[in-house]
Order: sequence, then structure tokens, then C-alpha cells
Amino acid sequence: MDILLLNGPNLNMLGKREPDKYGQQTLEQIVEALQSDAAALSVSLSHFQSNAEHALIDRIHDAMGNTDAIIFNPGAFTHTSIALRDALLSVSIPFIEVHLSNIHAREPFRQHSYFSDIAQGVIAGLGAQGYHLALTALHQSHT
Ligand code: DQA
Repeated sequence: MDILLLNGPNLNMLGKREPDKYGQQTLEQIVEALQSDAAALSVSLSHFQSNAEHALIDRIHDAMGNTDAIIFNPGAFTHTSIALRDALLSVSIPFIEVHLSNIHAREPFRQHSYFSDIAQGVIAGLGAQGYHLALTALHQSHT
């Protein structure tokens, strides 16, 4: 099984960025732990992070035909990006939306997502564990 882990803007700042909301772990540490979980499940996991909307769109397009599922934390694009929503609809790859923080318990502008109604599932508020839960769920639904 091939899974793409996609992380949007400012997630490269994890560890330094508002650790009370997003935790102490860096993105590198999170991805490393996830890679080892994936290997144990015989899942091939690719990772891509970008602060640029177009780069994320291009990476989603490139996933067509070679990726079974996507784990996506769109960062602030969650609340703004119809273009990323359309990219996911274009490739018809199932995805799980993950947020480290519980966006529903935060500012009103974070409570709407352009992705949740088209996602296979949504995980929010469980920190980095959310990525692991998404990986496990996708693996189980594929076997
Ligand atoms: C986030 C929540 C978003 O509202 C925010 O803009 C982020 C991170 C999360 O993981 O909790 O960048 O997606």
C-alpha cells in the first residue's frame, strides 16, 4: 500500500511554533516515527510539506495512479482553499484530514474546513498521534 503524507503551511515550524497548541515534536521527528510505523505495516509512506498552495496541488496531481490514500494536514489552507479541495476531488484518492489541535475548540474562523465533507475521516485534537491513527485506519481499511 502506498500512502502520501501531506503537510501544509507552517507545519515545518512544528516544535518551535506555539508548542502549547501543536506540541514539542518537530515535523522531522513526527515523520520519522510515522515511517517506522509504516514500515512495520509494510506500507510505503512518502512525505511532502510545503508552504505553497500550488506545490501542494501539484503534489496531489502527481499522486494520481500511484497512491492509495493521503493523510493530509492542510494547515491554514483548511479554512481557505477551494483549489486544494478541487485537487483532491480531481484525483479521487481517499484521504484522512488530520489536525494536531482541536480546530472546533478554537477561533470561529478555524471551525470550517473545506475538506471534512469529502474526507474519509477527520482526526483533530490528538496531537501527533492523529497521524498514527490515520495510518492505522487507512491500513486496516485497505486489507
Ligand atoms: C492545524 C490547524 C489550523 O487551523 C492551523 O492553521 C494550522 C495547524 C492543526 O494541525 O491543528 O496550521 O491544521
